[in-house]
Amino acid sequence: MNICVVGVGYVGLVVGTCLADFGHNVVCVDTNKDKIDGLKNGISPIYELGLEELIHRNVKEGRLSFTTDLKHGIQASLAVYVAVNTPNKADGTADLSYVQAVAAKIAEEMDGYKVIILKSTVPVGTCAKVREIISKKLEERVSEKNLAADVNLNGYLPTFSIVSNPEFLREGSAIEDFMRPNRVVIGAESDQVIAIMKDIYRPLYLLETPMVITNLETAELIKYASNAFLATKISFINEMSCICEKVGADVNMIAKGMGLDRRIGSKFLHTGPGYGGSCFPKDTQALLSIAKEVGYEVKIVKSAIEVNEYQKKRMISVIKQAMQDVEGKTIGILGLAFKPNTDDMRDAAAITIINGLQELGAKIKAFDPVSMDEAKKVLNNVEYCESSFAVAENSDALVILTEWNEFRQIDFSKIKELLNAPVIIDTRNLYDPERMLKLGFEYTCIGRGNFKSA
Ligand SMILES: NC(=O)c1ccc[n+]([C@@H]2O[C@H](COP(=O)([O-])OP(=O)(O)OC[C@H]3O[C@@H](n4cnc5c(N)ncnc54)[C@H](O)[C@@H]3O)[C@@H](O)[C@H]2O)c1
Repeated sequence: MNICVVGVGYVGLVVGTCLADFGHNVVCVDTNKDKIDGLKNGISPIYELGLEELIHRNVKEGRLSFTTDLKHGIQASLAVYVAVNTPNKADGTADLSYVQAVAAKIAEEMDGYKVIILKSTVPVGTCAKVREIISKKLEERVSEKNLAADVNLNGYLPTFSIVSNPEFLREGSAIEDFMRPNRVVIGAESDQVIAIMKDIYRPLYLLETPMVITNLETAELIKYASNAFLATKISFINEMSCICEKVGADVNMIAKGMGLDRRIGSKFLHTGPGYGGSCFPKDTQALLSIAKEVGYEVKIVKSAIEVNEYQKKRMISVIKQAMQDVEGKTIGILGLAFKPNTDDMRDAAAITIINGLQELGAKIKAFDPVSMDEAKKVLNNVEYCESSFAVAENSDALVILTEWNEFRQIDFSKIKELLNAPVIIDTRNLYDPERMLKLGFEYTCIGRGNFKSA
């Protein structure tokens, strides 16, 4: 099938590349010329394991191309995926201006039947709004020019279908998540368009991937419900970590003991410095706004957001307490991205924590295997280092903020030699406290009863 993917970000690029790998002809469109120029030269604008190789292969085999020419993308394709950004506005509602701009452009340029698939995470009712925008524009096109004179229309007013197809991939394992998803959610209004969507995802059908086929509104809400639930799970275990510290219990064992119950499950029960990234903070806020608009207050999700904010700020107190004071001290940070295997710094806990420590007068050195270029855009006055050892050198403490694999088996004797004081604050609970004490570190971790929280 000929497919156009509009928006070549963390989602659009993975979706477009994987659809090409399924065997479709995919043209990816973005307004960002630098991104497109880079991609034409085989350079991925994002760090995602295996992505660049997959792009190269599909470009080489002639199924994948990149352009800034949306008109070409639309006219060359039956299915048009919309994967542009939907950031939050200051009031927490989703900013749909990018989605709406693409919808208007599709209506201006479409020359025949199109399936318009919303991949972006959008509030309930957005698909209906997009339908309205396109219908209105098409009517304008007909009234502005003589229908018969519009060469692109060939005398016909084109028809279209809207599909809600939210994306559940996780940065860091995005290709695997897209190629082997737990489920595919499709909100659609006719058997014809459902058949087209099944055709697009035929390789997944063969893998017996469950397809949840429903109406547009339900599909739109499934995405927010899923993210809000996962964020709530994280905030729940982070609350447990606070209790554990007070009563001398171990939150890792609490998570294990809970997670083995199949009704609960072990995923998303790892305590840490608070969730971040491009989805959970934005989508939980947007869900509150969606509910507020219809006169309902989502109490559980509101609490999950509050707990998350508290957990991020609590880490500053934990670090301060472990170091007695941070004013005038140098703190070495390992890991900046909101999670490992991505360079994404959007809403990373590191931003709140580093800003907080700087406000208290600390000097920050940091290392992250891939996100330092992105970090430079959002953090000030940080000395970036080329390795964990360079971070440790002459620092008064080492703080783990992201659980990259390479930090798991670090050379602790070298780290100890390089640090001014053997102080490690591990917000991801990567290490065994007993071992760290034996190695001579003053070791602080989260929710394991070995220190009193501030
Ligand atoms: N990042 C994730 O892990 C993830 C997972 C699931 C869903 N989502 C959702 O997917 C959507 C995209 O997220 P993302 O992280 O890929 O965003 P992103 O910011 O990385 O990428 C969006 C891209 O869209 C482009 N764009 C904006 N307006 C455009 C236009 N008019 N025409 C062409 N291109 C345009 C931007 O230049 C940018 O490259 C969001 O709604 C997000 O909530 C993200």
